[in-house]
Parts: sequence; structure tokens; C-alpha cells
Amino acid sequence: DKGNHRHFMAKEIHEQPEVVGRTLAHYIDMARGQVVLQEALPFDFARLSRLSITACGTAYYAGLVAKYWFETLARLPVEIDVASETRYREPPLERDGLTLVISQSGETADTLASLRYAKSQGQHTLAVVNVPTSTIARESSAVMPTFAGPEIGVASTKAFSCQLTVLLCLALAAGRARGVLDAEHERAIVDALITAPGLMAEAIKMEAEVEGLSREIAKARDVLYLGRGTSYPMALEGALKLKEISYIHAEGYAAGELKHGPIALIDESVPVIVIAPHDAIFEKTVSNMQEVAARGGRIILVGDARGAAAGLDTLATLTMPDVDPVIAPIVYAVPIQLIAYHTAVFMGKDVDQPRNLAKSVTVE
Ligand code: F6R
Repeated sequence: DKGNHRHFMAKEIHEQPEVVGRTLAHYIDMARGQVVLQEALPFDFARLSRLSITACGTAYYAGLVAKYWFETLARLPVEIDVASETRYREPPLERDGLTLVISQSGETADTLASLRYAKSQGQHTLAVVNVPTSTIARESSAVMPTFAGPEIGVASTKAFSCQLTVLLCLALAAGRARGVLDAEHERAIVDALITAPGLMAEAIKMEAEVEGLSREIAKARDVLYLGRGTSYPMALEGALKLKEISYIHAEGYAAGELKHGPIALIDESVPVIVIAPHDAIFEKTVSNMQEVAARGGRIILVGDARGAAAGLDTLATLTMPDVDPVIAPIVYAVPIQLIAYHTAVFMGKDVDQPRNLAKSVTVE
């Protein structure tokens, strides 16, 4: 049932404040301002020397965001790869180490094969899954569920923001266990995290503006997405979302990689979507935007009021609410999804059933 929406994808984008809130309610003790994991973990974060993450597609990008969180909040080294590579690379994995798999469906063939490989190496396995009865959930030593509810649209939206939410909670739990985060620091991030559903609802209110902008994007043959830090995997996710439902060629790049190749593509025909909340490296991204502007590139800035005030030469700026940079990926998932959705709808594409794609990839 699509409710009042034209497509499942629209419904699922709009559901995010609610399902992220539901996921938070499961992982956060609001009174104590702390993360609580309902399930006892069969390993100790304090004793891990490394975390290996594997997943496919959008779930892999959630893992890439989480890499930044585990590294900064828990000082835990993270190795991450797409599951189709992990399974055949057969990377050396320490006995009693931890492999984290992320999957909406819990049935993705490559992710499952990587999970089985990790187990064969004597690793503990932890799964962030949306379908609790799935094969991946059953075969993992511990499960951290997302509470997105059934996701029908082929393009993952609400499952992604719920994955990010659970992964940030896990990084906080790891940070505490490893003595990196004290109670005060944890509480500060938890306080920021519980504002996420409200901020996502605010971001959804920008929909009409995004719709207008999508008419411009729909004219393009190629679109570049740029970001730094956790906004880099968000750029990758933005590009994936746009290409899979609008069939416009899109690429995500780390903004700092611009001058190592993709800057050659810049001209007025290639919109450059820059994901840049005001964080510690915002100024670095500003320099990249100046490089784009100097070559006649048309920038669409997805940033906040301080970014909008930076006086950049942009085609458009989506001014997002101010967010704590730690939780920015969760909130910025919304405009990224809305851009892809409205561009594809404007172009008359079937957003819920894009060509050649299946919701659950149970074969290689
Ligand atoms: C993109 C998308 C896919 C899935 C990928 C993994 O919007 O939906 O890239 O994220 O196929 O699927 P799960 O999470 O079910 O393992």
C-alpha cells in the first residue's frame, strides 16, 4: 500500500523520520543518554585489533560511512570491501576477529558467501539486517536489526538511513568499550542522534525545491557527486541512486580526487552535486567548488546556512538544517534520495521497478 504516495520509493523516503526514530528507540536509553545493545555480543570490542566490513551496493556505502565512525569514535581500524570481492579475495582474517555484514534483505548471495568465509576463518560475525528471518540473520553470531519495515521500492532508501543509525550506535558502543568515548562525549553524540528524525522531517520539506532542481538535472547526460569525509560515501550513494532509477550516468568522487582526473570532465553540461555540511573539512571542499566554478562547472550545493553564506558561485544551493557533523549522513540521505527520485519521475521512469534490477540479488 503506497498510502498517499505515487510510488513506494516516495512513501519510503517519507517514512524515514518514523523508522529512524523507531530504530533509535531500540538502541538508545534516552534517560541515560547512552547506547544500549539489547543482545549480548559474543566478542569484546576492546579486544579487537581490526573490524572487517563487507556488503553490496547501498549497504556497502553505509559500511563506508561507518568506517569513518568506527575509526574516529572508537579508534578501531576498519577494512571494508564489496562482498563480491571479499568472497574471492579470501582476505587473511584473524581468528576471533570480527566481520560485520550489512544487508537489507539478508539474502544477498555475495554478502552471504563472505559471511560464510569469515566464519570459516574463525571470525565472530555481526549482521545489520532489515529482515530478521533472513539467511544472513540466521547464520550470523549476532544480529543488530534495523527497523525500517518492509522496503518495496528497488532503490534502497529507508533501509539505508536505518543502517546508518544502527552503525553509529554500534560505533558509540565500541568507543565506550575501547575507552575512547567518555560518558559525556557519548551523551553529546546521543543528544545529536536523537534530533535526526526531526531534522529528516525538515529536510523532506525541501521537496518542492528539489523537484524544481531535478528538471535541470534531468537534462544532463553525466552528473558528478563530490564530498569529503563521510560525505564522500554519501556522494557515492547519491550517484548510485541517480543512475539506478534515472539511468543518467553519475559518478561519486572524493572531492580531493577532483584534480587527479575527473576535473577533465567539468564543463557547463555536467552538473556537480556537492555534499558539504559545515564540518571540520568544509573549507577544503570550498576550494574544490572554486576549482569547478572556475571551469564553468555548474554546482548544486547540498549544504547548510553557513555553506550558503560562503558566497560560492552555484547553480543552486539546497540549504539543509544545521546538523551535528557526526550525524550528517543520516540527515543528508534525504536530499540525496529526493534528487534521484524527482529526476527519475520527471523523466518518466519507473522508479519502483528500474530496468534490469531486482530487489534481492540471491544469485551472483
Ligand atoms: C541500491 C540497492 C542495492 C542494494 C544491494 C544490497 O539502491 O538497493 O545496491 O543495496 O543490492 O542489497 P541488500 O542490502 O539486500 O544486501
